[in-house]
Amino acid sequence: MSAAAESPFLRDNFAPIHEETEAADLKVIGEIPREIDGMFLRNGPNPQFDPPGAYHWFDGDGMLHGTQLRDGRATYRNRWIRTQGFQKEHAAGKAIWGGLFEMPQFDNPDGAFKNTGNTALVHQADRLLTLWEGGPPHQVRTPSLETVGLQDFHGKLTCPMTAHPKVDPVTGEMVFFGYSPIPPFCTYGVVSARGEIVRLEPIELPSAVMMHDMAMTENFSILLDLPLCFDLERAMRGEPPIHFDDQRPARWGILPRHGDNGDVRWFETAPCYVFHTSNAYEEDDAVVLHGCRMERTDVLVDDGAQQDANNARMHRWRFDLASGEVQEERLDDVATDFPRVNETRLGRKNRYSFNAAFEREASQAPRFEGVTKYDQETGAIQRHRYGPDRFAGEAVFAPRPGAREEDDGWVMTYVHDERENADELVILDGRDLSAGPLARVQIPVRVPYGFHAAWIPAEQYDD
Ligand SMILES: [Fe+2]
Repeated sequence: MSAAAESPFLRDNFAPIHEETEAADLKVIGEIPREIDGMFLRNGPNPQFDPPGAYHWFDGDGMLHGTQLRDGRATYRNRWIRTQGFQKEHAAGKAIWGGLFEMPQFDNPDGAFKNTGNTALVHQADRLLTLWEGGPPHQVRTPSLETVGLQDFHGKLTCPMTAHPKVDPVTGEMVFFGYSPIPPFCTYGVVSARGEIVRLEPIELPSAVMMHDMAMTENFSILLDLPLCFDLERAMRGEPPIHFDDQRPARWGILPRHGDNGDVRWFETAPCYVFHTSNAYEEDDAVVLHGCRMERTDVLVDDGAQQDANNARMHRWRFDLASGEVQEERLDDVATDFPRVNETRLGRKNRYSFNAAFEREASQAPRFEGVTKYDQETGAIQRHRYGPDRFAGEAVFAPRPGAREEDDGWVMTYVHDERENADELVILDGRDLSAGPLARVQIPVRVPYGFHAAWIPAEQYDD
């Protein structure tokens, strides 16, 4: 058996599918609220060809799974993202690039790694972008899911772009960063509401680290310099080039949105890792951040290890800009990650976070058994579980048109039933997860587990 075939990420519902499908008038258990008009989209890895070597979950070609909802009816469509790497491999009829566990192809003129576009989605400046943190994003059209191509902002994007830029819901600006194992280790940028890069600033870090997410407030951006370090000496010895250094503090850099390296104020806490932030906002003289904190992470070294320290838990940090002090507080003992909020409140004081809840039984590959709603004002926690042997991915919040309350809308995610080998789009009432699904839209094909999702209201469609 090859190393690739042994990967838990090529088995069961992590295994790729090989068809692109379109299916209209899907069966629904319950009723899709008629006010819902838009597309739920989820990105994720789906290798076009068998990997040539060891396979990591992060390696697969990006595939989008979209469910368009209108007038109480649903249409499903899945499409691979036609990246340059996808097309080269398609023409070759086989995989060319190895993955994260293999030696980078420094002699490949098309890139040492394949930009799969497989990680996340963001809509900004009338464009839907699919993101991959090692390179530029790709633009995709909705609802057709056709790939437009690489988006390098007229050649101005000279660094990779995080999979998690943040869009200001009031100004339309987008803030982002890119990290690199060679200097500058971090670059911070701002895209105007019209879609032009208007700021690109190198940020000094003590050493090269992997940075997955960031956060934004009305006036500040927050960069996460956490000790998941690149170590070239280790790589030369044949060890994994990335490791968690528990001798190094976690550093949190806060800078004005249009600031530069000299404006960054760094705060330090005990070492930790945060893959995903929920939201941040300003309150009095402080910046408040919510996110999912791990004691450490071996995810890039140990292929999905599930030791408890690797499990993320919802936390709150308060960075006092006047005193320079930082407070860190755990909000839940149960492991959750992939936090999402009502994005019309991004960067502003918000109350609710909807997080994916890890399954409580340890397994070789991470699966999510439910969705957890945190009320950050009262501390109340509401949990919905999808049922025995049913697992989901990230749940996103779609606001009800005209809603005034922050949680007035719907929480949506794909759920896979491992016993029935069946998939559905589950729609929950954001105000009351415990009421159970309003609608369960039956997807006629398997939807493999994936990464990040997005809600695209119909007024944002391109086609
Ligand atoms: Fe992510």
